Amino acid sequence: MAQQEDVFKKIVSHCKEYGFVFPSSDIYDGLGAVYDYGQNGVELKNNIKQYWWQSMVLLHENIVGIDAAIFMHPTTWKASGHVDAFNDPLIDNRDSKKRYRADVLIEEQMAKYEDKIQKEIEKAQKRFGDAFDEAQFRATNQRVLENQAKYDNLHHRYQEVMNAPGGIDLEGMKQIILDEEIVCPISGTRNWTDVRQFNLMFKTEMGSTADGASTIYLRPETAQGIFVNYLNVQKTGRMKLPFGIAQIGKAFRNEIVARQFIFRMREFEQMEMQFFIQPGTELDWFEKWKQFRMKWHQNLGFGAENYRFHDHDKLAHYANAATDIEFHMPFGFKEVEGIHSRTNFDLSQHAKYSGKKIEYFDPETNESYTPYVIETSIGVDRMFLSIMCHSYEEQLLPDGQTRTVLHLPAALAPVKLAVFPLTKKDGMPEKAQEIINELRFHFNCKYEEKDQIGKRYRRMDAIGCPYCVTVDQQTMEDNTVTLRDRDTMEQRRVAISDLRSIIEDEVSITSLLKKLL
Ligand code: GAP
Repeated sequence: MAQQEDVFKKIVSHCKEYGFVFPSSDIYDGLGAVYDYGQNGVELKNNIKQYWWQSMVLLHENIVGIDAAIFMHPTTWKASGHVDAFNDPLIDNRDSKKRYRADVLIEEQMAKYEDKIQKEIEKAQKRFGDAFDEAQFRATNQRVLENQAKYDNLHHRYQEVMNAPGGIDLEGMKQIILDEEIVCPISGTRNWTDVRQFNLMFKTEMGSTADGASTIYLRPETAQGIFVNYLNVQKTGRMKLPFGIAQIGKAFRNEIVARQFIFRMREFEQMEMQFFIQPGTELDWFEKWKQFRMKWHQNLGFGAENYRFHDHDKLAHYANAATDIEFHMPFGFKEVEGIHSRTNFDLSQHAKYSGKKIEYFDPETNESYTPYVIETSIGVDRMFLSIMCHSYEEQLLPDGQTRTVLHLPAALAPVKLAVFPLTKKDGMPEKAQEIINELRFHFNCKYEEKDQIGKRYRRMDAIGCPYCVTVDQQTMEDNTVTLRDRDTMEQRRVAISDLRSIIEDEVSITSLLKKLL
């Protein structure tokens, strides 16, 4: 675990050192849980967004995109339930003055019991080797049974307080924290306040106060911009059910426990798609979208074992199915995307609060109804983090040296090709520029002439550039160059005129999209 934490720290500093992610307003020592993307980060982020957008909008004839404003009419958030219910249960430790999410403290306690069980199993596995029978061990080992009983008891109590009839039972939550003897990690004490609900939306004012300014919110999800535009898009696009609306944009949440770098931010970006369907077909569509979204993730080649679905035990009152796609981060399996069957809750609420009729006339059945919705919602920043975590490697080379390399999928890499003149003379820099001038229209290229070739390769490995080309003496004679592969470090001699056809296919988003069909 400690080793994984070290790796994660290295990834965070690598992101800063190589222009991927900086703390926001860094010269003022940063702003909590807000980050800026640097020169390489923005390219990677744009490529992720393109991969998502094209897989949704280009590959599906019945999905169109929009770009709604961040500011929305305040009633939107009343209708959606965010004003009344977009809360986190918080608890403060009086000694450290630190604030925590009470539900997270309890979930971490459950994870501790699970860890203890896992450790016993791993120890026994080592001891018994092939003869090990896990089911039998779980059913008979005293320490496993004790921890399992503690876990089951806590899980049961947690479910009860989370699903209490009048909303979350805050007193019950505090009692669990006291009974489980959970201590503040900073002060080490159990001097807790009561648990309170805290709304996560940022507020601001529109218009001058003299005019009677109104309170508006920074949107906490992009989805509502899609719901309020359902009628506009359906009518102007003459869309027939089933159809989807996709959007990429910023969302804002005043997260209290903002941790793990860009995993939980206060300003972040979402890629959301609402798929409008006939009521009664939602569970079929839910399953189809689950499979398609998992395929989209696994298509990046990070290994199926690094993903899993986490079906929700506790459903929001308007949802009839929900799952997360989790990715194996250095700090455990964590949610990257949510897929939700949201019934007709949002459209019905907006119809009620706006007084507008929001329905679909189905020409096939001659009926009007409020469509049901399947939502796929993924965080760009979490996707970025999962890609960085999986791609980062400190590789020990046969000559005893190490290199830090990002094995980014070539189609997502910020720079696709680096071109180096071997020396700064004999027309090599000009030749290298000529190559770039030709290829820059097709993919992102970078020219580098500083330092020895070896150092230049290392810099490109560190930003995940899949190909490097070196212009040398032989190039000046026969128009061939060495082409070096980032992952294998192998070099081969190729004609300059073949470079585009060798590289372009591999580094284009199209290559990823084709594998999705
Ligand atoms: N419209 C549904 C919705 O917003 P969500 O599960 O709250 O659902 C969807 O968020 C995705 O947005 C998450 O799976 C995650 O990737 C991303 N996300 C949510 N909160 C985030 C935060 N504070 N920082 C970064 N990403 C976040």
